Amino acid sequence: MKKFLVTGALGQIGSELILALCERYGAKNVIITDKCPKPKGDFLSGCRFLEMDVTNEKQVAEIVEKFDIKVIYHLAALLSAVAEAKPQLAWDVNMNGLYNILEVAREYDCSVFTPSSIGVFGPSTPQYKTPQDTIQRPNTIYGVTKVAGELLCDYYYKRFGVDTRGLRYPGIISYKTLPGGGTTDYAVEIYYEALKNKKYTCFLKEGTYLDMMYMPDAINAAIDLMEADPAKFKHRNAYNITAMSFAPEHICAEIKKHIPEFEMTYDVDPVRQAIAESWPNSMDDSAAREEWGWEPKYHLSKMTEDMLKELKKKLKL
Ligand code: NAD
Ligand code: SER
Repeated sequence: MKKFLVTGALGQIGSELILALCERYGAKNVIITDKCPKPKGDFLSGCRFLEMDVTNEKQVAEIVEKFDIKVIYHLAALLSAVAEAKPQLAWDVNMNGLYNILEVAREYDCSVFTPSSIGVFGPSTPQYKTPQDTIQRPNTIYGVTKVAGELLCDYYYKRFGVDTRGLRYPGIISYKTLPGGGTTDYAVEIYYEALKNKKYTCFLKEGTYLDMMYMPDAINAAIDLMEADPAKFKHRNAYNITAMSFAPEHICAEIKKHIPEFEMTYDVDPVRQAIAESWPNSMDDSAAREEWGWEPKYHLSKMTEDMLKELKKKLKL
């Protein structure tokens, strides 16, 4: 059995991806790493956790060599809002971290999964049915690092034959781990606040459409892409994928079906609003559907039902 390495594994996506990888490939074959220390308490018995900073190439190489890693899920990154507050750190983690992973993958013959983002698009990109291949001139440091990352992955594939694969994730919604500081975080916070306080103040304006996806679809997409037959790939590193597109008032209306007294107000954050307005309203994900069979299972109403059910248990309400 191949050995898997996950970077940034304690984040919103990583904390759920590791469960799926352990279930599928066996806990002893999955090495979990993050810059943050291992959480206290029970943490995936059977899995090995190591502190690893992706900006430290020597540390990455030692771990990959020691555990004979063959597949790397590289999730360590700074998200859009945090990156805008710390652009120099964002460049270091998102670019130098990826470069180190690709260099080590080249040396030790690993496949690499790297998530890209809706953040690779900018104000000059067509906003409706944003095509797979289109203008990519983002005006955020997050977007700049994600576009450069897509290109770097393409380069390592073409120049060195490294099996790089990637997805342009939309906003990911989940209940296990809170998001790490993105522009789409409102679509997670709203569920917590609806259950706890029956009200939510949204930091994006009414009418701000963005692509979104429920976590189970995001996890399946990553694993399906890494297991797909590459002979069918035309894009390989940065497939548009989406499951739904909505604005804050639509998620509010959906929650109201379950919690009629829920109320939402707006207090717009100009930084995150500007980022959201520079991103697509809805992406065309037909390349992913055609080339490796992408198909989401959750839409807004099914996701809302599940989020509220699971969060009620988590928050002991
Ligand atoms: P997150 O912020 O929740 O988690 C990132 C993890 O990386 C954290 O646990 C953090 O401790 C770790 N990390 C930060 N710097 C590190 C370093 N130098 N070395 C090692 N680990 C470090 O992010 P996420 O939401 O899980 O996102 C994972 C990937 O998916 C990122 O590349 C992100 O850009 C991409 N993505 C996420 C979303 C989303 O909505 N969550 C959408 C599009 C793309
Ligand atoms: N959810 C992510 C963010 O808002 C999109 O990449 O940063």
